[in-house]
Amino acid sequence: MANETWLFGYGSIMWKTGFNFETSELCHANGWTRRFWQASTDHRGTPEFPGRVVTLIASAGERCWGTAYRLPAGEATNIIEDLDYREKGGYDRTALSLTLGDGRTIEAITYIAHPHNPNYLGESPLEDIARQISFSTGPSGSNKEYILELHQCLEQHNIQDKHVKTLAQIIMRQTESIL
Ligand code: SIN
Repeated sequence: MANETWLFGYGSIMWKTGFNFETSELCHANGWTRRFWQASTDHRGTPEFPGRVVTLIASAGERCWGTAYRLPAGEATNIIEDLDYREKGGYDRTALSLTLGDGRTIEAITYIAHPHNPNYLGESPLEDIARQISFSTGPSGSNKEYILELHQCLEQHNIQDKHVKTLAQIIMRQTESIL
């Protein structure tokens, strides 16, 4: 256990993992919640028209469910280096305590965009967040793809996330009304 490297994914890392891992399992982080409060200028938007992606917000009494990945020992350093680059748009590499399905607690690496980073947007009315996501696109693809893939991934794992679900529903409704 002591020498294992675990990584926690709660956003794109859940549905667009992009690295090798030995095992993965659902887990949760106590005291955190997932919110579309971080601007994306390098993946799902541009500096002129930023998109919105998720970050973890400290929130007593809440828990954020996601995926814990155990990284292969010989690859962990390179994987983390690649993720440092991928998450460079305001995220800090941070250590977080996770609870696994069997109740074990582990220390994991995760990426959190804290409120002091220049791309932090914070709270806005959900309709405004949904509109921004609907119209943004960047080098990694559309912002709509990001939220709909995340929503689908959470549903497949039976993870209840009211914030993501409500936003995804608004966006799907908006798309239907355009068609
Ligand atoms: C994560 O997926 O865990 C971090 C945020 C993101 O890249 O969407």
